[in-house]
Amino acid sequence: MTLEIEQLSQPFAARLHGVDIRKPMGADLLRDIKSALATYSVAIIGHDAPPTNEQHIAFSGLLGPIERGKEGKLGGTGERVPHAEIIDQGNLDEVGEIFADSDRRLAYKRANQLWHTDMSFFEIRATYSLLAAHAIPPAGADTQFVDMRDVFDALPASRKAGLEDLVVEHSYWHSRVLGGGPPPSPEETLARTPARHKMVHVHEPSGRKTLYIASHACGIVGWPQEKALALINELMAFATQPQFVFAHQWKLGDVLIWDNMCTMHRATPFDDTKFKRDVRRTTCRERAVQNATMQIV
Ligand code: OGA
Ligand code: MN
Repeated sequence: MTLEIEQLSQPFAARLHGVDIRKPMGADLLRDIKSALATYSVAIIGHDAPPTNEQHIAFSGLLGPIERGKEGKLGGTGERVPHAEIIDQGNLDEVGEIFADSDRRLAYKRANQLWHTDMSFFEIRATYSLLAAHAIPPAGADTQFVDMRDVFDALPASRKAGLEDLVVEHSYWHSRVLGGGPPPSPEETLARTPARHKMVHVHEPSGRKTLYIASHACGIVGWPQEKALALINELMAFATQPQFVFAHQWKLGDVLIWDNMCTMHRATPFDDTKFKRDVRRTTCRERAVQNATMQIV
């Protein structure tokens, strides 16, 4: 198969033709996909039926070391999707029924509606996320993206100045609570302490500078909390202006790949107490992680 790239309504988003992640992949095609992902931070691969969990995991492993969650996870539904590599991002419980509105897992899933990049709250960051659509609701639930390299380029010089010296703290619980979820217990807080990352880094595959912030960002090292949140909020608002946003409307069987090192994304609402949405994610990391982490979103 030969790769064909169709650029979409934003220059950073593309549909990849000539790829079926369910099939074994030749080295040439894989090389071309990786090269496309250096330019296009969001790539859509359509299929007439979703990949099996095993196919999804096998393809993801070609793009980097895969995150493996712990068994007995909070965010996922182990029995229905019994793979430590797959994060269950849908609104379905162990037996495939829609979560009760009061279910804590649903509350935390809704934090996905805040702009974020996956796993910035870990020291070893996420590179690619691969999200596969197994069931989609009749309306709503687009996933939106911005490319933070474009955002950084568009910042006025006066605002860019000094950002490269800043180190940001990212906390899992910060965004869970911001998204309307219940506060964590003291043990949970201790189990997930914030991670620190430079606010600006060079995105290695493209060599372009990019901003690295998210709703997980809860502070700037050495800054008072209020001043830090004011800058983070200002940059988040700048980054998510409509001219930067690409929205993906899901079709069954779609597999979306995005590069967390240079994008932010968010889920958008749908009637999640009425319609089923079954979307499953694998995540590649910068480096292999020795200790499995509690399953997260
Ligand atoms: C994710 C995520 C958004 C969505 O899987 O990391 O944020 O629309 N998903 O489900
Ligand atoms: Mn996400």
